[in-house]
Amino acid sequence: MGEMVKAVIFDLDGVIVDTAEWHYFAWKDLANSIGIDFSREFNEELKGISRMGSLEKILEHGGVAGKYSDEEKIELATVKNTNYVQLLTQMKPDDILPGIREFLEQLKDNNIKIGLASASKNAPAILDYLKLTDYFETVINPDEVAKGKPAPDIFLRAAENLSVPPSECIGIEDATAGIQAIKEAGMFAVGVGTKEVMVEAGADLVLESTTELDLKSIKREFLQKE
Ligand code: BG6
Ligand code: MG
Repeated sequence: MGEMVKAVIFDLDGVIVDTAEWHYFAWKDLANSIGIDFSREFNEELKGISRMGSLEKILEHGGVAGKYSDEEKIELATVKNTNYVQLLTQMKPDDILPGIREFLEQLKDNNIKIGLASASKNAPAILDYLKLTDYFETVINPDEVAKGKPAPDIFLRAAENLSVPPSECIGIEDATAGIQAIKEAGMFAVGVGTKEVMVEAGADLVLESTTELDLKSIKREFLQKE
């Protein structure tokens, strides 16, 4: 009881910017080049999953899980990432999802700390393209933590860097694995997406869109939850 909202820790892809489509094109190219079909539906399963984790899922999906050596897998992931990074050069502040900048401003005005817990190693570059870098007090490099989402590690590291106990942090995610990570970390989880999917994953509050992000209403739900 008596806990306050002191920090908000964001996921990036799908919360701040809709990169799923860009990942989709880059993975589809790679998958097709080695004879694997790749659909938008399957792409959904890769949300929140690390680059190498995504590649493993794709190879398994294509029935070639054991076919490639570790070096070959690194090479395949590099081909995808080179393609993705090339697509990112077109990214502009206009690509920030609606309501995000306003919400970041609200947090800043209320002295709430802001962190990023993204599985993407491209996160710092993306924040730069979007001109949002200055809002974030910590951006976790996913390589620094032992386990990726759905493990809580990345959210816990962000809270630690912000010097805020997890019980006073809000996590915002669009992926099932991400919501699970937030809940495992002992934080209040805001899910952006389909109600049933987010509730099933364990979200404490579900928003249909980032336009609904509002500090007052999140605080109200947070206090009710205690
Ligand atoms: C997550 C995305 O944020 O980052 C995943 O949801 C992606 O789709 C992962 O695979 C890793 O991203 P990157 O940019 O390091 O390949
Ligand atoms: Mg996401």
